[in-house]
Amino acid sequence: MPASTDPARGVFVTGTDTEIGKTLASCALIHALREQGLRVAGMKPVATGDVAEAEDALALREASGMRIALRRMNSFLYEPAIAPHIAAAQVHRRIDLRKVASDYRHLTDRADFVVVEGVGGWMVPLGRRLMLADLPKRLKLPVILVVGLRLGCINHALLSARAIADDGLRLCGWIGSCVQPAMRSQKENIETLTSRLSAPCLGIIPPLAGDQPERQAAAHLRPAALRRALMLPEVQSA
Ligand SMILES: Nc1ncnc2c1ncn2[C@@H]1O[C@H](COP(=O)(O)OP(=O)(O)O)[C@@H](O)[C@H]1O
Ligand SMILES: [Mg+2]
Repeated sequence: MPASTDPARGVFVTGTDTEIGKTLASCALIHALREQGLRVAGMKPVATGDVAEAEDALALREASGMRIALRRMNSFLYEPAIAPHIAAAQVHRRIDLRKVASDYRHLTDRADFVVVEGVGGWMVPLGRRLMLADLPKRLKLPVILVVGLRLGCINHALLSARAIADDGLRLCGWIGSCVQPAMRSQKENIETLTSRLSAPCLGIIPPLAGDQPERQAAAHLRPAALRRALMLPEVQSA
């Protein structure tokens, strides 16, 4: 087991929107990091959905192979599938970053690395004064942007990257996910994203079907780029 180093304790995964592949890419990251010999936990600190259990946390836990209590992965889970700050106000349970930080510590105590999935896109309010950006800021995490590859994604990606930088956070890489299989000029879109985003592309996840898409997706991430982006040590050969 490689020794975990300070700069590589976790990463925050955001996206150009909701339903564009953040969970798929987060699970793929977990698999890819496990392949580098790390014990990797997943976290979805704020989730909303029409189900009692958060599907994203279940997917992340499945990918991690670790037996971690869902309540630690899901610090704040709201039942209606609506914007988190509205859901929080409706049930009078405000999002408290101290709880998120304590749950994050619980995970870092047990894993070498934690992949933290955001909620929605980037400019997401979490409370009256709280924004999503306060979460990676509090946890001191670099950010990976998942770009849902479809018409309009260049605008969404460049706006997100600008907002992440404006919020004082470090975009360490981006991952494309083909959510629109018949997207026209996809290659040119990817070229534009590559040349205009300051952070490196860590992989492009093609349109996937069939069993275990998370594992399939992991094979499309670039291990060397990932190691550099997350400042992970080189894998020692056995
Ligand atoms: N590259 C892809 N190939 C096939 N399906 C995808 C791909 N990326 C995302 N999806 C599908 O799109 C839906 C939304 O993805 P998900 O990862 O849950 O998004 P988010 O976490 O951003 O809401 C899921 O059903 C997922 O399986
Ligand atoms: Mg998700």
